[in-house]
Amino acid sequence: MTQCGRCHEKEAVTFFDTMHGKVSRLGDAAAAKCYDCHGTHNILPPIDLASTLSRGHVVETCGKCHEGAHRRFAGYLTHATHHDPDKYPALYYTYWGMTSLLVGVFSFFGIHTLLWLPRAFTQYKERREHAKTMRTSGGTSRLCPNRRRVRHLRLRPLRPFRHSPPRGLPGIPRASP
Ligand code: HEC
Ligand code: HEC
Ligand code: HEC
Repeated sequence: MTQCGRCHEKEAVTFFDTMHGKVSRLGDAAAAKCYDCHGTHNILPPIDLASTLSRGHVVETCGKCHEGAHRRFAGYLTHATHHDPDKYPALYYTYWGMTSLLVGVFSFFGIHTLLWLPRAFTQYKERREHAKTMRTSGGTSRLCPNRRRVRHLRLRPLRPFRHSPPRGLPGIPRASP
């Protein structure tokens, strides 16, 4: 593998990304090496009909180790990589499409959240100011005091709205407590 890789650097790199490459690197002699697929003295480009990897021979080549290998199994791309738009356009464009989508979505929401922060902070300050003026002027700072919230929780499932009709809507008289 290192012998072939001296000259076929790109193929060696992609090979080590695959199961065959990783398993070989871990020392498993059974996993396919360059020559198990490409042959030794009969190395030919895979498009050559006489190559061990040509359409006519590839199933048999994989079948040496993968019993029951068939046409579709042999379609597995040993050197597939998403860095080569000419040889593997589908992988390349899928990879960059999905990556841009991911980066785009996260940047959009990241920026959105950052821009929203000052506004949330202003609202928080306003609410605190409001509570302070209400307290100093003797009123209550909340629309609904705690006591009433608890009561509301208790009653809500049984008799919704009985003790607090919608307020401020025209034509609906306020219920007497
Ligand atoms: C001394 C350098 C060198 C070594 C070592 C070497 N090759 Fe090659 N190989 C070449 C050259 C040069 C070509 C022809 C380049 C071309 O046609 O793109 C070639 C062509 C090939 C081809 C056909 C590719 C094509 O596009 O035509 C395959 C497959 C191949 N080599 C596999 C191997 C394997 C497997 C090994 C290890 C057993 C190996 N080579 C070792 C230099 C080397
Ligand atoms: C020299 C024997 C050998 C040859 C030839 C061989 N393989 Fe393998 N292959 C292995 C071994 C060993 C494993 C690892 C099995 C394991 O450990 O689970 C493997 C694993 C695989 C896997 C599983 C990868 C994964 O991610 O799970 C695929 C797919 C595969 N081979 C496809 C092929 C194809 C396609 C060919 C023919 C082009 C081929 N193999 C030729 C021995 C071979
Ligand atoms: C599991 C089988 C398998 C193994 C192992 C394997 N290859 Fe390949 N190789 C292929 C197949 C199938 C193709 C053609 C399809 C492709 O390019 O993905 C190919 C294509 C190539 C090509 C380009 C041929 C061309 O015409 O474009 C080179 C060069 C090559 N391999 C070298 C290597 C080297 C070097 C190694 C070891 C580091 C190796 N291969 C390991 C199956 C294998």
